[in-house]
Amino acid sequence: MTGDAVQAQYEAYPYPERDPKDEATRLIEGSPSHLDEVDHYCFAGGLRARSPFRVLVAGGGTGDALVMLAQHARDRGIVAEITYLDLSAASRRIAEARVAARGLDNVRFVSGSLLEVASLAPGPYDYIDCCGVLHHLPDPPAGLAALAGVLAQGGAMGLMVYGWLGRTGVYPLQAALAALAPDKDLSVRLSVARRLLRDLPATNWAKRNPLLGDLAADSDAGIYDLLLHSRDRAYSVPELVEFLSTSDLAPISFIEPARYDARNWIGDAALAKRTAPLDPLAAAALAENLSGTMKTHILYAARRSELAGRIAAPSGGATIPVPRSGAKALVPMLARGGTLKLDLDGHPLRRDIPPGLAPLLDAIDGNRTLNEIGRRLGWDAATVAERFDRLYALLNPINLLTLRF
Ligand SMILES: C[S@@+](CC[C@H](N)C(=O)[O-])C[C@H]1O[C@@H](n2cnc3c(N)ncnc32)[C@H](O)[C@@H]1O
Repeated sequence: MTGDAVQAQYEAYPYPERDPKDEATRLIEGSPSHLDEVDHYCFAGGLRARSPFRVLVAGGGTGDALVMLAQHARDRGIVAEITYLDLSAASRRIAEARVAARGLDNVRFVSGSLLEVASLAPGPYDYIDCCGVLHHLPDPPAGLAALAGVLAQGGAMGLMVYGWLGRTGVYPLQAALAALAPDKDLSVRLSVARRLLRDLPATNWAKRNPLLGDLAADSDAGIYDLLLHSRDRAYSVPELVEFLSTSDLAPISFIEPARYDARNWIGDAALAKRTAPLDPLAAAALAENLSGTMKTHILYAARRSELAGRIAAPSGGATIPVPRSGAKALVPMLARGGTLKLDLDGHPLRRDIPPGLAPLLDAIDGNRTLNEIGRRLGWDAATVAERFDRLYALLNPINLLTLRF
């Protein structure tokens, strides 16, 4: 399949479908590339030391990561130079309109293939976002190598590629549609897919996969991307690790960490202890095999030789805890105590709530240090440190609390 078929798809159906008018009412935030997450997992909480912060959004599409990164940088007073690169002119127009709607001036746009990034926009970049793109390339390792070639020393990548097990049913349905709709016309293929989805047998694996949701309710661009794509592939954790190694890269962390912690998918506590000898990547592979829920893999990655010291860790009173949106909603639950009931893709996760955490979480605002929080609460340093370690152990794995310095 040629790059042209992929390009034609994204010219006709820019993905994901976005209306620049919506920028007035909401900011789409997510992973990878939430800037607080990038700071925590890629730069040990010291991202602000890299100024200007140079970012490439490779295969930026209609602009979700681009807009989020640019807006986050502006909101946090971080000087950033963000480069958008994509093959699709139609997608770029939407991304440009979204950036204009917000009056963001820390972005530049480049059209072309990421395979040619070294000549089109050589960087180097402190951070490269590449979300949902590499698995569509004819030669994913060549794409990854092109990106690794423009990664600055000490830089990192935020990646999303499809997960094979969570996409159960997608590939047989793609094959069925390839047989039923060999047409060249994209709109004919789409209408065949819509008609097929109307009364797909209940036994069909894509229909039986709850992670895929209501297929028929998806947007045109969504159906095209999921079921009619001319090229996509999915990865298991070991395949992904192998893929990264082709460019001498390795995972720093998967997101959310709790989903890749095999212990969270094993009910029998004694059995869960058997995961102890596993290295984190083997444990992540086990988590994938047990959970069955990983439809995508979201991760931060860096050069193998530059992995050490990447992830921020609580370290004394200068630590600045940063709450993710949604974290503060837990304050009343922490105040009540008992058990925190969490949900990992439908799988219940229970955590005992240690005492004294509610006022701590309440005082965290992303700017105050632990020293300042301690003074506000009238707690001594040892109490703050001990309670914060517990709060961090509770909320960081579910992506509700990161750190900066
Ligand atoms: C599924 S969309 C993802 C868009 C965006 N990253 C996001 O997560 O919302 C894939 C994007 O990759 C772009 N793309 C595909 N192959 C590319 C290539 N070789 N170079 C640059 N962009 C490419 C497509 O045009 C499309 O906009």
